[in-house]
Amino acid sequence: MKSLITIWLSMLSILGIANASNTTNTFSNPLRDQNGSDPFLVFIEPYYYLLTTTWRDVQLTRSRTLAGFKPGIGSATSETKLIYKMANPNPAGGNDVWAPELHNLNGTWYIYFSQDRKSWVLPGASDPWDWGTRVYSDVDRTQVHQEWGIDGTVVTIPKWGEYFVWSCMTNSTSTTQGQEVEELQSLCISPLDTPTSIGQFYTLSQPLETWERVEIPVNEGPAGLYHGDRVWIAYAASFCKTPDYSIGLLAWDGVSDPLNSTSWTKSKGPVFISANGNFGTAHNGFFTSPDGTETWNIYHATPNANGSCGADRQTFAQVVNWDEDGTPEFGAPVRAGEVLSVPSGEI
Ligand SMILES: *[C@@H]1O[C@H](CO)[C@@H](O)[C@H](O)[C@H]1NC(C)=O
Ligand SMILES: *[C@@H]1O[C@H](CO)[C@@H](O)[C@H](O)[C@H]1NC(C)=O
Ligand SMILES: *[C@@H]1O[C@H](CO)[C@@H](O)[C@H](O)[C@H]1NC(C)=O
Ligand SMILES: *[C@@H]1O[C@H](CO)[C@@H](O)[C@H](O)[C@H]1NC(C)=O
Ligand SMILES: *[C@@H]1O[C@H](CO)[C@@H](O)[C@H](O)[C@H]1NC(C)=O
Ligand SMILES: *[C@@H]1O[C@H](CO)[C@@H](O)[C@H](O)[C@H]1NC(C)=O
Repeated sequence: MKSLITIWLSMLSILGIANASNTTNTFSNPLRDQNGSDPFLVFIEPYYYLLTTTWRDVQLTRSRTLAGFKPGIGSATSETKLIYKMANPNPAGGNDVWAPELHNLNGTWYIYFSQDRKSWVLPGASDPWDWGTRVYSDVDRTQVHQEWGIDGTVVTIPKWGEYFVWSCMTNSTSTTQGQEVEELQSLCISPLDTPTSIGQFYTLSQPLETWERVEIPVNEGPAGLYHGDRVWIAYAASFCKTPDYSIGLLAWDGVSDPLNSTSWTKSKGPVFISANGNFGTAHNGFFTSPDGTETWNIYHATPNANGSCGADRQTFAQVVNWDEDGTPEFGAPVRAGEVLSVPSGEI
């Protein structure tokens, strides 16, 4: 079966039939129907790369098509590599690996992930697929910050440089009459001085709005979104075990110091919420279509109307639209099984 598909694909490319202008090519969600949490996907010619975890590892899958990530279809046309494996997983859980991401810094690829509620980075690679002959483990990773922190990502601000943005608890306790009243899982930002080290860090956003505080006040899962010179940071708000876990947006003002929270404006409410049989539609990433013309939102969702923080979360991808004034329109989460056009330029 595999060889037949390979032969068929190479025949198509030899005959020039599979080309970027064929808009009849389609796919449907979810891309992963289990273990689809905290998805991160990037297109690096000629493959899409998807990072996933089963809580104790980091796996990298590459595919030339989005449909190729789907179990069944995917097994024929995608390849998966185990990149990292925890040395001593706690049988009771609690030191889970979360949210792996792949970023290019000055020409070298780095994988960031959370473990033990800290951010870590693996040694860099010049090729996004070639990570050497052995599987990395705890001894190979470098800790990015000392304090409690998860979901680290790299955000590039034009003319300013690279920043590390993550979910933090620093200065998180608010007190009333000497009594600690709550902890605020917030977003922090710092210059990324080198791929493995940050500078001084600052609180970027706290969950102070009602829609960010359902069951537990949470800001997590930050992801940079770019359009022209404009930059936003999308993030997940509220507790993952509720259907109100949703995407909020911080808009950079385009001129002021990105380390200063006053340079960012928070959306008036969530920009992407549960609908169409998908609940808790957040912790997302963004990727660019193969021809560079479209921005796509890749997020997780659960069919459980109560929401979920578990491995039953599924991976969905859909295009982001842009208003005339250049602001992103996320629309509503698409229904599972709905037929969508593939990203522009996908072969
Ligand atoms: C586009 O792709 C579809 C599905 O693979 C195929 O049936 C169709 O012939 C293609 N059309 C063109 C113009 O290449
Ligand atoms: C999901 O991950 C678990 C390990 O946590 C594994 O046992 C299971 O097979 C995975 N499911 C799929 C569909 O990959
Ligand atoms: C990338 O290179 C530039 C120029 O040398 C440097 O200023 C910047 O710190 C580097 N970025 C990282 C993350 O190391
Ligand atoms: C925490 O509070 C201290 C004292 O006000 C301040 O200097 C520091 O920048 C704060 N850190 C963050 C991450 O907000
Ligand atoms: C952040 O920006 C505001 C408004 O410009 C300014 O008042 C404040 O001093 C800045 N804070 C820092 C730490 O630079
Ligand atoms: C959702 O929560 C309600 C109330 O706790 C419970 O009765 C129901 O079984 C839950 N549904 C699922 C799918 O877990």
